[in-house]
Amino acid sequence: MKLGVLVSGRGSNLEAILEAERRGALGPGQVAVVVSSRPFVRAVDLARAAGKPTVVIDHRGFDGREAFEDALLAALHEHGAEAIALAGFMRILTPRFLSAFAPGRVLNIHPSLLPAFPGAHAHRDVLAAGARVTGATVHLVSASVDQGAIVTQAPVPVFFSDDEERLARRVLGAEHRIFPRALRWLAEGRLELFAGGSRVRVLPPEPERTLTDRYATLHAGSLLAARAEARAIAHVAATLGRPVVAVSACLLGERCRWDAQDRRDDGVLARLAGAEVLPICPEVLAGFGIPRPAMELDARGVMRRLDSGADVTASALAGAETAALLLREAGVRRALLKQKSPSCGTRALRQDGALVPGQGLLARALGAAGVTLSAEDDA
Ligand code: GRF
Repeated sequence: MKLGVLVSGRGSNLEAILEAERRGALGPGQVAVVVSSRPFVRAVDLARAAGKPTVVIDHRGFDGREAFEDALLAALHEHGAEAIALAGFMRILTPRFLSAFAPGRVLNIHPSLLPAFPGAHAHRDVLAAGARVTGATVHLVSASVDQGAIVTQAPVPVFFSDDEERLARRVLGAEHRIFPRALRWLAEGRLELFAGGSRVRVLPPEPERTLTDRYATLHAGSLLAARAEARAIAHVAATLGRPVVAVSACLLGERCRWDAQDRRDDGVLARLAGAEVLPICPEVLAGFGIPRPAMELDARGVMRRLDSGADVTASALAGAETAALLLREAGVRRALLKQKSPSCGTRALRQDGALVPGQGLLARALGAAGVTLSAEDDA
């Protein structure tokens, strides 16, 4: 997920975020642009030194908040920012700005345990109140300053010997720990809003899932589980800004074919970089078992098992329909299917032992639904 970081000054939180990205601790998060509301500040130097696109939009040069925010939005959109981190950004953002991003996509770091001690002088207020504990809060930015839903917090003790500077230094340590972590959760799609967006829950990490896991859940027999899996794939793809491509499972190395041969095609896998893959086998969905029997689709559209000659058209059609349904749930617009196959086949079928041009049942259904088809031997 591409992040835009807005800064105004020292940039120590920006530094922590950039360092986290270098260590891989931002997960799929990637700082795409740093925008500063002030020129000549340390944050700008840090961003440039890190090789990040850096834009200075000096708020003093604008006639009013709207024009300033339009310039901010233009810079953020130009660099594809999908979410925003306010890292010491000293301007208040209007609902109009916030509505340019999906709910829950603009995060701020505040140097106190909100809702206690909001505002620009948190440490001073903490000391004046004689509080024994303060801390740092990452929260969603809402129209009301320092009042958006809390994402995460870290407590910091207040000592009698503290002055503003000493306290600020310790709280900053906590900020630098929790802000990159919260941005990682955001990028991983793990921040779930509830109670009308006034509260945030951090979802557990997705366990590392292989394509075989996906294949198994999609084909295990429960249509409910399969549909949930298809939607989960769509969610991951949307979070990461990737397309979902359906691929014949055999090309991924699943041995569902009648001959149980490994048809894994590394060329296919290489072409799928940057996409979320949805492995599909309409014949397994049809309930033909693994490995599925050898079959032929004749010129009249009748599917027969080669071993018994039985007409299995109804099951084969049902399998293709289920596959098409799962692909719709996952938002698939592109499918990479086998060139020759009675169900997946994009170009050719075997009829009476000879290869003839034509498409399999699933390929036909997808083609009719406007899905772009390609085959394993396309460049
Ligand atoms: C931090 O204390 C942060 O909590 C507040 O502004 C300060 C920014 O510091 N919102 P830096 O620019 O990240 O060093």
